[in-house]
Amino acid sequence: MHRLNGLKRIAVVMMAGILLSISAAAISGSMVVEGSKAAGMKDCVAPTMDMRRNHMDYLKHQRDEVVHQGDRSDKFALADCVSCHASKDKQGHPVPVNAKDQFCDSCHDYTAVNITCFQCHRKVPEEK
Ligand code: HEC
Ligand code: HEC
Ligand code: HEC
Repeated sequence: MHRLNGLKRIAVVMMAGILLSISAAAISGSMVVEGSKAAGMKDCVAPTMDMRRNHMDYLKHQRDEVVHQGDRSDKFALADCVSCHASKDKQGHPVPVNAKDQFCDSCHDYTAVNITCFQCHRKVPEEK
């Protein structure tokens, strides 16, 4: 009986350890895509944790300001998200930022967000 309790204790401690390391990875792991401009940079247009949590509100706010007030002075332009976060394929062609496993899809896939923004907005950086 004593021995069983001991084993149970160990199992519980191990489970807790596994859960902790999973959530730590979820918090510290960056979703930034290899081959994108962002991959070589330290910061987003706002602190990463803030962007992670609030980018949807910033984007909607920015859209409203542009569409209703014609004010483009803000830093949350969708074209900028795309130009910094889109990666390139092996041939050097830009990959749509909302394609499967690309940046804008990486979290939305499992949060079940399906954004329709790119029906109208460019999903690859503007050619220079
Ligand atoms: C000039 C480059 C640049 C631009 C423009 C930019 N980002 Fe970022 N973004 C980054 C970098 C670099 C990081 C990662 C920082 C880090 O790893 O801490 C990041 C991180 C993020 C994250 C968090 C990712 C994670 O791993 O949790 C989100 C969400 C995000 N950006 C969304 C956006 C959106 C939306 C826009 C447009 C409004 C945008 N970014 C514009 C460079 C950029
Ligand atoms: C039916 C077409 C359409 C769809 C869908 C759409 N937009 Fe837009 N969006 C526009 C147009 C048109 C403008 C105004 C363009 C301009 O004046 O530069 C605009 C402007 C914006 C702007 C401000 C300008 C810029 O480039 O930053 C943001 C931000 C924006 N939209 C974000 C979004 C987001 C986020 C979504 C998805 C949730 C979205 N839009 C979906 C058509 C669309
Ligand atoms: C680090 C994870 C992550 C990344 C990367 C990310 N998003 Fe999101 N996004 C989320 C989460 C979480 C939500 C909110 C889901 C909810 O509200 O239930 C969201 C919601 C949104 C919404 C609002 C959708 C709606 O219908 O209200 C827009 C717009 C959006 N994201 C745009 C973008 C764009 C554009 C990019 C790429 C530049 C991007 N996101 C990258 C996690 C992310």
